Amino acid sequence: MAKPKVYVTREIPERGLKIIKERFDAEVWPEYGPPPKQVIIEKVTDVDALVSLLSDKIDGEVFDSAPKLKIVSQLAVGYDNIDVEEATKRGIYVTNTPGVLTETTADFAWALLMAVARRVVEADKYVRSGKWKVGWHPSMFLGRDVYGATIGIVGAGRIGSAVAKRAKGFNMRILFYDVVPRPELEKMGAKKVELETLLREADFVSVHVPLLKSTYHLINEERLKLMKKTAYLINNSRGPVVDEKALYKALKEGWIAGAGLDVFEQEPTPVDNPLLTLDNVVVAPHISSASYETRSRMAEMVAENLVAFFEGRKPPNLVNPDVMKVRPLSKLF
Ligand code: GLV
Repeated sequence: MAKPKVYVTREIPERGLKIIKERFDAEVWPEYGPPPKQVIIEKVTDVDALVSLLSDKIDGEVFDSAPKLKIVSQLAVGYDNIDVEEATKRGIYVTNTPGVLTETTADFAWALLMAVARRVVEADKYVRSGKWKVGWHPSMFLGRDVYGATIGIVGAGRIGSAVAKRAKGFNMRILFYDVVPRPELEKMGAKKVELETLLREADFVSVHVPLLKSTYHLINEERLKLMKKTAYLINNSRGPVVDEKALYKALKEGWIAGAGLDVFEQEPTPVDNPLLTLDNVVVAPHISSASYETRSRMAEMVAENLVAFFEGRKPPNLVNPDVMKVRPLSKLF
């Protein structure tokens, strides 16, 4: 039997790509940057499977040109770039790579938090640019203590909970906001509060919600105004969860003390994004899960989801289980 055809929208780490190339008839977009949408539309016309990244918009237009497409295997935990409802309607399975990147992503939230609170990037630039001329000064680069402060975790799922564990090690008071109960967090001493209470009381607000209609601009002008003037906002979830224009105003006008951002409303963020002019902002290019081991494991999971599916098994990380009613595996294989 012919091998199923797969289009892979980027060179994913070798551990996963090797399996995909062995098991499938695979074509890989060879460039560092993403394929234009038109290329994806052309490439999917005769494929059985698509491997996507969070920067690829996979919607009805793509599905329209992919009559044989049965599964989209995404290299990411978030999948807001995929129209899952549309996929489900058409009987297309969608998978992601949860779990494996939890600790790596929480580490990076912590890195942003520490960096902005203790002004690591500003201080680095100061030394490199030859501005360090007066030796030690008692009020040079004063920042805020992390140890013993209050953290507010917005969205206490896997990654939010992993951030809470780090906060516990820093003897922090932990508040969290979520739309579902999180008994594990309460057991470790974290307190569930309303979002407004969290924003009023936290010294560090760390955002870990998926991007949904209900979380778009969750952190808006009104809510930023509730935060303490001395507080910091950390976001390594999805850019559109924070209203960037409002955040710029908040930082510029001193409603809050600083921000650590790994994600932006538009990615790559334009170099003239006014947020980039502010010293009290630490930025990164959406790299929170970027450790060697985690990215390799994510690629392997992408392959495992495909292999399971084409062996007629439920993929381990299916995000749209309802699809099994629309197109049961028994009808596919
Ligand atoms: C990264 O942002 C991911 O969703 O995995």
